[in-house]
Amino acid sequence: MNQISWRGAATDIEIETLHGRAFDHGGTDGVAWNARMERYSLGWVTARDQDDALVGFCNVVTDGGEHAWLQDVVVDPSQQRTGIGRDMILLANAQAAAAGTTWMHVDFAPEHREFYLDACGFEPTDAGLRRLD
Ligand SMILES: CC(C)(COP(=O)(O)OP(=O)(O)OC[C@H]1O[C@@H](n2cnc3c(N)ncnc32)[C@H](O)[C@@H]1OP(=O)(O)O)[C@@H](O)C(=O)NCCC(=O)NCCS
Repeated sequence: MNQISWRGAATDIEIETLHGRAFDHGGTDGVAWNARMERYSLGWVTARDQDDALVGFCNVVTDGGEHAWLQDVVVDPSQQRTGIGRDMILLANAQAAAAGTTWMHVDFAPEHREFYLDACGFEPTDAGLRRLD
């Protein structure tokens, strides 16, 4: 049984390793995840398996008002399609709503339409994204 927690503890290395596995990159860039989360996040969700391994993570950043955004939604490839992603998003939405958020935003690649729109209840919308570096 997986444990899904709001603001659950996770080390920078755990998050970066999971991120690397989910996005298929090396995963040890030394990102200061916890420092960023404490400064910029409304909260985050962790999922741990029965051996306490981190198998899911998503970050929720906020404007401090009505809006919040999902970032870095990741589930370990060995555990995908078992409902962890959906359960994490539902908990993130519930906690953000409890904190006064009205609108949760997410942008995603076409292959994740079914996940976000059908499984997690998001409405399709036009949005813009521009790389700045
Ligand atoms: C996207 C991701 C977070 C989904 O997490 P997950 O735990 O695998 O998803 P769930 O098991 O909760 O899926 C719930 C439902 O969403 C839909 N769904 C999920 N992934 C899907 C996919 N790749 N293609 C089509 N439908 C999908 C299905 O309807 C699924 O139900 P089903 O398995 O009974 O058919 C996960 O695949 C992942 O980490 N991907 C790599 C990183 C990434 O791209 N993250 C998204 C950044 S925007």
